[in-house]
Amino acid sequence: MSKLSTKHLLGIKYITKDDIELIFQTADNFKQVINRPIKKVPSLRDITIANLFFENSTRTKLSFELAEKRLSADVINFASSSSSVKKGETLVDTVNNILAMKVDMVVMRHPNPGAAYFLSKQVDAQIINAGDGAHEHPTQALLDAYSIREKYGEVKGKKIVIVGDIAHSRVALSNIFCLQKLGAEVKLCGPLTLIPKYITSLGVEVETNLRKALEWCDVAMMLRIQLERQDKKYFPSLREYSMLYGLNKELLDSLGKEITVMHPGPINRGVEITSDVADSNQAIILDQVENGVAVRMAVLYLLAGKKVD
Ligand code: CP
Repeated sequence: MSKLSTKHLLGIKYITKDDIELIFQTADNFKQVINRPIKKVPSLRDITIANLFFENSTRTKLSFELAEKRLSADVINFASSSSSVKKGETLVDTVNNILAMKVDMVVMRHPNPGAAYFLSKQVDAQIINAGDGAHEHPTQALLDAYSIREKYGEVKGKKIVIVGDIAHSRVALSNIFCLQKLGAEVKLCGPLTLIPKYITSLGVEVETNLRKALEWCDVAMMLRIQLERQDKKYFPSLREYSMLYGLNKELLDSLGKEITVMHPGPINRGVEITSDVADSNQAIILDQVENGVAVRMAVLYLLAGKKVD
């Protein structure tokens, strides 16, 4: 297979295992490119991409921009805080005005779940979801699974626990879909107030005891408490949360085996993860960030219809 089965990347739910494997094979090539002295290829020099960020981002925004520039695309950036959205313009009008400037692809982060899907039905451009509320963050899950594949050779058969605020996390949902499509076992861990009841219908187990979850897993994916998406209190205090669900060095060392620690960022040091764990050899957090550029290059390249030889 040399083409994706989809025109847009709206979520991992809507792509196939073959799509994911094609993205990984393509990312392998781009990872070599970005480690060369000249980190650029001309593949997308005929393509213009708009990055639309209606919500804050450091990693995803910069990673997409760098991926686009490494592929020689023309790039324009849009931040809602300094745009005419503040004057009452609709999302569709905003995007259609940008597309009138001959833009081919739109990368969008938006606080509303379903915003990328909605846009894909309303405008004539390819849409890449860079995170839509608590729904999906497909390129984060792809780079996470790619990093697990890089560490272990394959994702199939690996035991992955996702720890923390599952209820408000787009990273958790995209990772559940992605890791399961690749044949991994996925468990969720956290206080039950932060784990939605429907989630077991996706074929994942829930474990409320962090030590038991860590003893079971090969990889622990630690998540931030998404305070910006919480409308009420889900646990008594961050201090108590940290005592029960924070990963510290003492707990990690007491497991009697080596596990891999991941985090999509941004990290809240001292809450879900202590500094000595985040900065330890068992953590691959910065490898995830590095792989994000190669994976996003692969996604953009393949969605632009460029074929893999
Ligand atoms: N992981 C992630 O999406 O980080 P940003 O919010 O900084 O983009």
